[in-house]
Amino acid sequence: MRRRALAIPALCLGLVLGAAAAPGEVPPDLRAFLERHWRLPLALQGAPPRSFGPLERSLHPEACAACHPLQYRDWNDSIHAVSMGPGVSGQLREMRRTEPAQAQACYTCHAPLAEQRPGSSAHDPTLSPKGIACASCHVRNWRWFGPPRLDGTLSSTSPRDGVPHGGVTRTPAFLRAEFCRDCHQFPPGGLSLNGKLLQDTYEEWKAGPAAASLQCQDCHMPARRHLWRGIHDPEMVRSAIEFTLTDEPDAVTLTLRNRGAGHKLPTYVTPRLVVSGEALDEEGRAIPGSRREAVIGRAVTLDLSRELFDTRLAPGQSAVVRYPRSLPSDPGRIRLRVVVEPDHFYVLFFAALLERGAGAGETEIRTALAAARASSFVVFEREVRAP
Ligand code: HEC
Ligand code: HEC
Ligand code: HEC
Ligand code: HEC
Ligand code: HEC
Repeated sequence: MRRRALAIPALCLGLVLGAAAAPGEVPPDLRAFLERHWRLPLALQGAPPRSFGPLERSLHPEACAACHPLQYRDWNDSIHAVSMGPGVSGQLREMRRTEPAQAQACYTCHAPLAEQRPGSSAHDPTLSPKGIACASCHVRNWRWFGPPRLDGTLSSTSPRDGVPHGGVTRTPAFLRAEFCRDCHQFPPGGLSLNGKLLQDTYEEWKAGPAAASLQCQDCHMPARRHLWRGIHDPEMVRSAIEFTLTDEPDAVTLTLRNRGAGHKLPTYVTPRLVVSGEALDEEGRAIPGSRREAVIGRAVTLDLSRELFDTRLAPGQSAVVRYPRSLPSDPGRIRLRVVVEPDHFYVLFFAALLERGAGAGETEIRTALAAARASSFVVFEREVRAP
C-alpha cells in the first residue's frame, strides 16, 4: 500500500489483492467453488477444445449474444460493460508507462480476463475495452458455469457433446452475495480511512438486515436480468429512499430514510446526495443567500489520505434536514430538492488530474470529466407555500 503526499494516486490504488474475510455461512462446497472461481488475477483459459466452433472459441460478449440476446442487451446497457470507460482507460494509458505494476492491478476488477491484460501471452487488445465481459463470470478453462435452473435443479453437467459450449456446470454459488464480493469489497488490511475500508460494500450488506433475506443479485439482477443498476439510475435510487416532508410553522423538515439499499446509501466514496432548501420569490426565483444544504456521502481528500466526513445512511437509518422559515424573513415559498451526484469525487479528481497533466490519457480524461459532470439528476423536488 502506498500513498504519496503530493501526487494524486489513481483511485483504488494500493489495494492488497486477494480473498476477503472468510464468508461465514457459505457451505464449504460453495466456498471452495468461489475460491477457485475468483482466484484473482484470473488465469488464461488455455487452448479451446477442438470440437468448439468459432462462436464457442470466442470470449467476446458479441459471440454469447448470438445465442443469449436477452442477457447481452441488458449487460450492454450496464455499468459492467463500460468498466473500461474513458475514466479508467485514460488513467491506465499513462499508468502503463509510469507505474506498470499498479496498472496491472486495475485490470483485476475492471477487465478481469487474463486475455484482456496487456502483457499476458494470449492478450487480445480488442477484448480489453469490453470491461467485465460475460466470460469473466461464466467461463473458466473453457468450461461454462451458471446458476441452477429456475426450479433449483442442477441437472446439467458439462462436458456434454452436442450441446453448445459443452453445456454448463450449474452451482448455487451464482446466487450468493459472495459471488460479487471480491470486486466489491477490499480485503482486511486494504486501504482504510478513519478505520473504515475505502470499499466495504459486502461487509455493509452482511451487517445489515437485508443479508437475512436478500442477496446482491435479488436487488441488482431482478428476475436474473443483467442490469446491475445502482447510484447512476434514478429509479433505483428512488427505490432506496423514503422521503417524508413535514411542514410546521417554524420550519420545513425533510427526512430521508434508507429503506431499500442493502448497504450504506451510498456505499462508495465517490457519489453524494445534496439536500437543499431555498426560499423563492413570487416569480419562483431563488432568493440570494437563502440556500442551505446538507450532504449525504463519505467525503475523502483527492489523494485518499483522509476522510473529511461520513454522513452515509446505514440500512434503516434516517437523515433529518430542517429548513427554518425565518430564512430570510417570511419567505412565501420554499423549495426542497435532492440531487444525486453519482460521480462527485471524479468531477474533482479528473479536473485535478487534468490540471496536473494527464499525459497520454488527456483526451479520455476530458471525456470522462464531461460524463461525470453530466451524470447528476434530481430524485426529489417539492415546493411548500407559506402556511
Ligand atoms: C451457439 C450458441 C451459444 C453460444 C455462442 C453461447 N451459448 Fe450459452 N447456452 C447455449 C445453450 C443452447 C444453452 C443451454 C445448455 C444447457 O441447458 O445445457 C446455454 C446455456 C448457457 C448458460 C446456462 C443458462 C441457463 O439456462 O441457466 C449460461 C450461463 C451460458 N450459456 C452462458 C454463455 C456465455 C457467457 C457465452 C459466451 C461466452 C455463451 N453462453 C455462448 C447456447 C450458446
Ligand atoms: C458480473 C458477473 C456476470 C456477468 C458479467 C454476466 N453474468 Fe450472466 N449471470 C451472472 C449471475 C450471478 C447469474 C445468476 C443470477 C441469478 O440467478 O440471480 C447469471 C445468469 C446468467 C444466465 C442464466 C439466465 C437464466 O434466466 O437462467 C445466462 C444465460 C447468462 N447469465 C448469460 C450471460 C451473458 C450472455 C453475459 C454477457 C452478455 C453474462 N451472462 C454476463 C453473472 C454474470
Ligand atoms: C477490487 C476491485 C477493484 C480494483 C482492483 C480497482 N477498482 Fe476501480 N472500481 C471498482 C468498483 C467496484 C468500482 C465502482 C465503485 C462502486 O460504485 O462501488 C470502481 C470504480 C472506478 C472508477 C469510476 C468509474 C469509471 O468508470 O469512471 C474509476 C475511474 C476506477 N475505478 C479506476 C480504477 C483504477 C485506475 C484502478 C487501478 C489503480 C482501479 N480502479 C482498481 C473496483 C476496483
Ligand atoms: C435490498 C436491495 C439491495 C441489496 C441486497 C444490495 N443492494 Fe446495492 N444498491 C441497492 C440500491 C437501491 C442502490 C442505489 C442506492 C445506493 O447507491 O445506495 C444500490 C447501489 C449499489 C452500488 C452503487 C454504488 C454506491 O456507491 O452506492 C453498488 C456498487 C452496489 N449497490 C453493490 C451491491 C453489492 C455488491 C451488494 C451485495 C453485497 C448489494 N449491492 C446489495 C440495493 C441493494
Ligand atoms: C470482476 C469484478 C466484478 C464482479 C465479479 C462484479 N462487479 Fe459490479 N462492478 C465492478 C466494477 C469495476 C464496477 C464499476 C464499473 C465502472 O463504473 O467503471 C462495478 C459496478 C457495479 C454496479 C454499478 C454501480 C453504480 O455506479 O451504479 C453495481 C450495482 C454492481 N457492480 C453490482 C454487482 C453485483 C450484484 C455483482 C455480483 C453478481 C457484481 N457487481 C460483480 C466489478 C465487478
